[in-house]
Order: sequence, then C-alpha cells, then structure tokens
Amino acid sequence: MKTHRKRWITAGILLFAYAASPIQIHAADPDTQARQDAVIVRALERLEGFDYRTSPGAVAAVLREIDRAAGTPRFVELVKRFQPDGIEKRLLASLDSKNQSAAVESAQLLLDSDNGRKLIRQRLANADTAISTINVLGLLGNGRAVSLLSTVAENAELPFDQRRGSVAALARNKPGQQKLVELATKKTLVGDTLLVAGALLSRSNHQDVKQAAAKVLPQPALDDRPLPPVDQLAKLSGDVKAGQVMFRGKGTCANCHIVSGFGKDVGPNLSEIGNKLSREAMITAVLLPSAGISHNYENFSVLTDDGQVVTGLKISETDREVVIRTVDAIDRKISKDQVELIRKSEKSIMPENLHHLTGQQGLIDVVEYMTTLKKKP
Ligand code: HEC
Repeated sequence: MKTHRKRWITAGILLFAYAASPIQIHAADPDTQARQDAVIVRALERLEGFDYRTSPGAVAAVLREIDRAAGTPRFVELVKRFQPDGIEKRLLASLDSKNQSAAVESAQLLLDSDNGRKLIRQRLANADTAISTINVLGLLGNGRAVSLLSTVAENAELPFDQRRGSVAALARNKPGQQKLVELATKKTLVGDTLLVAGALLSRSNHQDVKQAAAKVLPQPALDDRPLPPVDQLAKLSGDVKAGQVMFRGKGTCANCHIVSGFGKDVGPNLSEIGNKLSREAMITAVLLPSAGISHNYENFSVLTDDGQVVTGLKISETDREVVIRTVDAIDRKISKDQVELIRKSEKSIMPENLHHLTGQQGLIDVVEYMTTLKKKP
C-alpha cells in the first residue's frame, strides 16, 4: 500500500511538471499522445485538491481523453469527474447522435447542471430541435425530464406535434405516466392530446396507472373479447402478409424482435422462429410471455439513489456499473454507487396480452407469418 501511494505521489509530481509546463510537449504520433493523455488523466483522477484547470496541458489532455471516450461509459465518468468548461457543447452535439444510448446519457449529464438545463430548455423552445429533444427526454424518463416534458404537454400555444410528442414521451415510463394522469386530473393537458394519452395509458403495464387513467382519460375501444383455447387457436389459419404488417406495426413486435435485419434487438431474434416453435408454442409465447422467460432475457429493475427506476434486460454488470437494455432498446449505464437496489422481476419484459392490440385475427396472422420465418436453405 505504501509503495502504491509513493508511486502516485511521484506520478503527481511528474504530471505537475509536465502538465504545468508552459512549453507544450507535442507527442510524435496519435498513439503516443493517447498513452500520455491516459497517464496524465489517471494521475489527475487520483490527485485530490489539484485544480487541473490551472494547467493548460492538463486541460488539453482531459479534453482529448473525453473525446476518445465518446460513446463509452468512461465518457460519463470523465465528464462527471472533471466537468470541463464548455463540455455542454460536446454534450449537446451528442444529443443528435445516431447512438441513442449516448444521446440519453448526454441528456442526463446536461440535466444535472444549471447551465445544461438552460440549454435543454432552449432546444425545446426551438422548433428545429424541439422534437428530437422531446424524444431523448422521453427515453431518459427521470424526474427532471418528466417535468420538462409536462411543461410542453401543458402549453396550448405550442404546435400539436410537440405536445403530442411530449405526451408519447411521458407515456414511455412510469413516472411520466403518473404525470400524465396528474395533468389529466388537473385538466391542464390540452384537449387535442387527450385521446392519444388515453390510448397510450390504456396499454400501461402498471395496473394502478391504467386504472387511474381510465377514470380521467377517454379510453380506446380495445379488443378484449376472450380468446378460444390455445389448441383451437392453433387450428385457425391466417394471412402471412397481414401478419407481417401487424408484426411491424400495430402489434409492436418489431419494437423488440429482429426479423431478417428489421426491428430492434431487445428480445430474441425471430428470423428462424418457424424452425423452433410450433404454432401452439408461438401462441403461448405471445399470450403468456412470462411462462417462457428465458435465462438470457431476465427482466431487472434498478432503483437509483435519485429515485429513478430503470427496467429492462441486464446486458452486463461489473463492480463499477450495470447496463440495462430498456424496452426502447436503449442501453442505460448506471454506475454502481448510484444503485440502491437491483431486483429481478418475475415478469417478462414482453407485455402480456398483446392480442388486445392485434385482435384474434391479427394474432393468428402474426403466428402464420412467424411459421414462414425459417432458416434459408
Ligand atoms: C417489449 C419487448 C417485446 C415486445 C413488444 C414483444 N416481445 Fe416477444 N419477447 C420479448 C422477450 C424479452 C422475449 C424472451 C422471453 C421472455 O423473457 O419472455 C420474447 C419472446 C418471444 C417469443 C419466444 C421466442 C423463443 O425463442 O422462444 C416469441 C415467439 C415472441 N416473443 C413473439 C412476439 C410477438 C409475435 C410480438 C408482437 C405481438 C412480441 N413478441 C412482442 C420481448 C418482446
């Protein structure tokens, strides 16, 4: 332990000499530069009470290291640790990133600071960036995101698109859904979004929210007629083409399953499901997803110290962080020191009773379609 500490003190002195030096040492090539930066940044991370901002060399090394880490968990770690001036610009740029997980992470970091929140509000006020910002906030779903989204949903002067987008974004997670119920109860939700809100909340996985919403919001006509037993359903035949349309659209299956490259990677790839499951097994898989929960797809809920609940599949877990893939196929990285509780859920992440969306014939069509999904010879 002693020698360890000694080593860091030496590193600290070296670092100070290097980074504080007015003469910039330019690394010969990018690899050498990256190695040097990594050493400096590691040393800085361990030096308490040294303000790296006083050293231009250290600032440059930190910024380069942050750029290199973009899109990885290290990025967030570095931003939180060093909070470099002007980092908001980099975070804002990544809000529009194709990598949705990175966009959500940046939004979270921005919402953590006063200046960041101001910038997010500016993006919401700008018609060009409002919708994409609303979407990212919906994916984030923490208390701050929910309150920003509700101000949009309540503002009758904003365009319908933005308000409807906010309602849909709020409906993505439980805190947002509860907020929608609250707004509907207070009658501050603008009239033209009531139907959308009612339809979205009627599909909530949270019974308490669903019931509360049914009292204050218009309810869509759902097909909730009882189905015949599975063995009889399996004898009916459907339409493959209609089944594919249902699978990709109203049935929401492609939100979680990939078939031949189309769809999102939350549940298992179904490109060859026709080789694997009988019709009966397919029907059961849709009606009772929790019966067939497979080890690779166990559903977890993580409670964080700021009261947020992130639910989804556990992609990885280390001493430092846990990664949860949500139903939106977003990878949420949660640092272990923010985790209050991790709980395995008995319920599948796949919603139950999807036949309420598809109707009986729609379900049969989807099954017919799945029987055609086979290994290419
Ligand atoms: C929110 C994500 C989600 C949605 C939406 C969803 N599924 Fe799933 N599905 C899963 C997950 C995750 C599994 C893995 C088993 C489990 O944990 O329940 C699964 C399992 C399955 C299986 C069994 C696969 C196997 O290899 O045994 C079938 C079949 C299936 N889903 C079909 C569908 C169909 C059809 C729809 C649309 C009507 C649908 N799913 C909608 C997430 C989803």
